[in-house]
Amino acid sequence: MGKAIIAPSILAADFGHLHDAVVAIDKAGADWVHVDVMDGHFVPNLTIGPPVIASLRQSTDLPFDVHLMIEKPEASLEQYVKAGANSLTVHAEVCPHLHRTLNHIREMGVRCAVALNPSTPFSAIEHVLHLADMVLVMTVNPGFGGQAYIESMRDKIQTIRAAADDQGLSDLLIQVDGGISPSTIGEVAQAGADVFVAGSAIFKSKDYAQTIAFLRKKAEG
Ligand code: DX5
Ligand code: ZN
Repeated sequence: MGKAIIAPSILAADFGHLHDAVVAIDKAGADWVHVDVMDGHFVPNLTIGPPVIASLRQSTDLPFDVHLMIEKPEASLEQYVKAGANSLTVHAEVCPHLHRTLNHIREMGVRCAVALNPSTPFSAIEHVLHLADMVLVMTVNPGFGGQAYIESMRDKIQTIRAAADDQGLSDLLIQVDGGISPSTIGEVAQAGADVFVAGSAIFKSKDYAQTIAFLRKKAEG
C-alpha cells in the first residue's frame, strides 16, 4: 500500500463555521478538502454550490475535491472550476455521455473523476477507465454523512484495481467515501483504495490531527 491521501468531508462540519473547519483540517494535516455538492434531486439532500466554494477558496491552499451529487452536471462544470475546484467527480448514474463529460473535465485542466453508487457495477465505467484520473467507489448510498460502510464494496474496489493494472493504468486513484473510519480504512486500503474521504470520523473527533494521523497510519499499513 502506497501513500494514503486523506480527504476530510466538510459535510460533517458546522455549516455556520465552514471557514474555521477548512482552516482546522489544513492545520491538522489533511491532504485534500472533500466538498459534497448535493442538489436535492440526485440525492435527497441539499448542500452548497459554487459561491460557497469560491468563498472557502480564500481559507486554504489545499486542493478542493468536489464531489458532484447532482443531475445534469455538464451544465455547471465550468462554474465549479471557476470557484476553485481542483478535481471534479461526476456520478456515472447521471451522465448518459460519460465519455464526453470526462473529456470536458480533462480539458479544463482539473483532476477528472467518476463515481459509482453502491448498486452501480464497474462495467458502467469500464469503457472510460483510461479517461479518469480517479474512480470514486461510494461505500454508502450518497446523500448523508454518518452512514455505515457497506462491506460488499470491497470486491468492487479490488475489481477496479485489477482492471487498472491490466490496462497499465498505474496512476489511477481509487477513492472511497462513506463510513470510512479507523475500523474500516485498513480493509479498503488493502483492497486497493488510495484516497480516503472521512466526514464524521474526523469532524466528530476531538483532535483532528490525531485522527488524520491515525487514519493515515491504518491506511498505509
Ligand atoms: C455522502 C458524502 C460523503 C459524506 C461521508 O453522500 O458523499 O462525502 O460526507 O460522510 P461519513 O464519512 O460521515 O460517512
Ligand atoms: Zn462525498
